[in-house]
Amino acid sequence: MRQSGGINDLIIEIFRKNADGFVSGQVISNKIKVSRTAVWKHIEGLRKRGYLIESIPSKGYRLVEIPDRLSPDEIRKTLQAGFIGKELLFFDEVDSTNDVAMQSGAKGLAEGLVVLSEGQYHGKGRMGRTWVSPKNVNLYISILLRPDISPQYAPVMTMMSAISTARAIKEVTGLETTIKWPNDILIDRKKVSGILTEMNAEQERINYIVAGIGINVNMKKQDFPEDLRMPATSLSECLGKRVDRMNLLFTLIKILEQDYEELKKDGIMSIFRKWRKGCDILNRRIKVSLPGEEITGVAEDFTPEGGLVMRLDGREKRIIYAGDVLII
Ligand code: BTN
Repeated sequence: MRQSGGINDLIIEIFRKNADGFVSGQVISNKIKVSRTAVWKHIEGLRKRGYLIESIPSKGYRLVEIPDRLSPDEIRKTLQAGFIGKELLFFDEVDSTNDVAMQSGAKGLAEGLVVLSEGQYHGKGRMGRTWVSPKNVNLYISILLRPDISPQYAPVMTMMSAISTARAIKEVTGLETTIKWPNDILIDRKKVSGILTEMNAEQERINYIVAGIGINVNMKKQDFPEDLRMPATSLSECLGKRVDRMNLLFTLIKILEQDYEELKKDGIMSIFRKWRKGCDILNRRIKVSLPGEEITGVAEDFTPEGGLVMRLDGREKRIIYAGDVLII
């Protein structure tokens, strides 16, 4: 697992700051303190990675088109100001960002660590499923937190991640989302984001928790596998244009930080109430698939422990904690 960043990112940053003009090889070499030959080699490397860079001998280089890539140096710089993302682990590709964040939690790393990857070989979904994680198009992010709440209320961390994600999507794209119990974020009933929370806890306290968020950002319709459990979409498919992933990432982290502060200050019920408001299955007839059984009834309420309170067709009341919901 190799973390990326380095000289390429510094060069891109120089280009970004000179968006309209040419920058000479000498200026770049002075700014990042490498030889002009090294600058030329990195420019060639960037071209191979899809950057369109014009060069005119008397003027220098000009960045014409940027492939949609996350820039770890820029992310590091921007996230320095806050507490979530002050520490960042960035990968081109990794098995699962959640696994890296859980291992970091076991090593004692501080809360606020963000693990981000351009792609995942084995992205993990809920209930042992796979999260489809192609490279360079979506966001795969895991955040290590050490909340002072009892383990039974750990699902509130998933709720918090869901409302933060929904707000970030709205702020960046203007798109309205709904939350489907327990943690699917939908646009027009198609899944655009999912959250997988994992934790290490003792009976009375949480040692650490990882909130793993996957958002389908610029993935194309034809790249979704056909056999998905439920219809899926991406933000760009809904919007009809590419979405700036860096902007979405920064917005998400900013909002997560606000919501986590709120959780610490006002307690879990404040988050729970907000999440409940965003859920679209309340008072609707639903079918829930549980391991080995299917039940139908009305979604009457939720509990702060993450349970779904159902009034079954036979009028019996039941609280369930994991399952797949279908609105009927
Ligand atoms: C779901 O099934 O809806 C949950 C999907 C969670 C996917 C994210 S992507 C970042 C993080 N790393 C993982 O392996 N999974 C989560």
